[in-house]
Amino acid sequence: MATRIHGGLRTPLWDAARITQHIAKGAIYQTLDETAREELASIDDLNAKVVVALTDPKPLDICMPVLDAVLAAQYYEVLEALRPPRELAVYEPCVGASCPVIRAVEAYSGGKGSHLTINLNRKLREQLQRKIAPIAMPIRIIEDNAQTALRHLSPGSFDVACFHHAVNDILQTAVSEPRGMDTTAVDWFPNERQMIEWLAEDAVAGRLEQRGKPELMQIIGDAVRLVRPGGYLVLDHFNWCRFIGVDWFPWDLFYNLIPMTRQWIAEGDLPLTEIPLEGADPQWWLALQVGRT
Ligand SMILES: C[S@@+](CC[C@H](N)C(=O)[O-])C[C@H]1O[C@@H](n2cnc3c(N)ncnc32)[C@H](O)[C@@H]1O
Repeated sequence: MATRIHGGLRTPLWDAARITQHIAKGAIYQTLDETAREELASIDDLNAKVVVALTDPKPLDICMPVLDAVLAAQYYEVLEALRPPRELAVYEPCVGASCPVIRAVEAYSGGKGSHLTINLNRKLREQLQRKIAPIAMPIRIIEDNAQTALRHLSPGSFDVACFHHAVNDILQTAVSEPRGMDTTAVDWFPNERQMIEWLAEDAVAGRLEQRGKPELMQIIGDAVRLVRPGGYLVLDHFNWCRFIGVDWFPWDLFYNLIPMTRQWIAEGDLPLTEIPLEGADPQWWLALQVGRT
């Protein structure tokens, strides 16, 4: 498989000095509100913290405002490499309260793009609405299960679908709802350990084929229909070093979420072609073009 020649980049993704530039004064900086800009400006040796934020698995001494901005810059460079239209429409299931993809779309499109999410948890949705209030670009939040995407949205109406750290979210929801947890209403993070423990239990028992995989593959299959031919799906996951050796945390499963999803997609015979992105580790990132080669 030939490595994609990057449209606007011409060099591998995520050079630390270039990412620092994006977040300190460039395209991502332009999408930040005044508080986030001041926070980044007050950080000593930003480039060193960018290097840490780009490391996988994520080290212990990470600076969260830098990580948030770096994730946005990573997605921004992925878009620059894939080169969808500047006025792009992006679908992001399971956004929670997280902004990296939204900021990347805003930066790549100069505010002329749009973003749509389908998301279940209401408290995270409220947090997201507060965070995105200053962003002028159209952003729509549908409160539903992403498994119902085709009831709300037309096939071929998006240029890119982004699953930012969303594979685990979908699997966790799939194993937790049948056990009686209302994931639409709970405080997500205090309940996440329980969700992950149930997911680990099902993985060890070999039950993901029945619960987890069908939900994830339906959401991915629907995303393939929602994205126009020639458009892209981008998935990422990252892990925290602090979970290595933690007894309740299924490290092997989480370490392999992207490779496992790549394999499930290949078995599912979806019309997708993997696009290798130079500089992106296939352990943590997967980019696919809609259409067969
Ligand atoms: C912790 S947030 C994660 C946000 C983002 N993906 C990230 O990692 O930065 C998880 C979100 O995914 C949502 N979610 C999980 N499964 C979902 C599904 N099947 N349909 C819609 N939303 C889902 C949850 O409701 C929650 O709002």
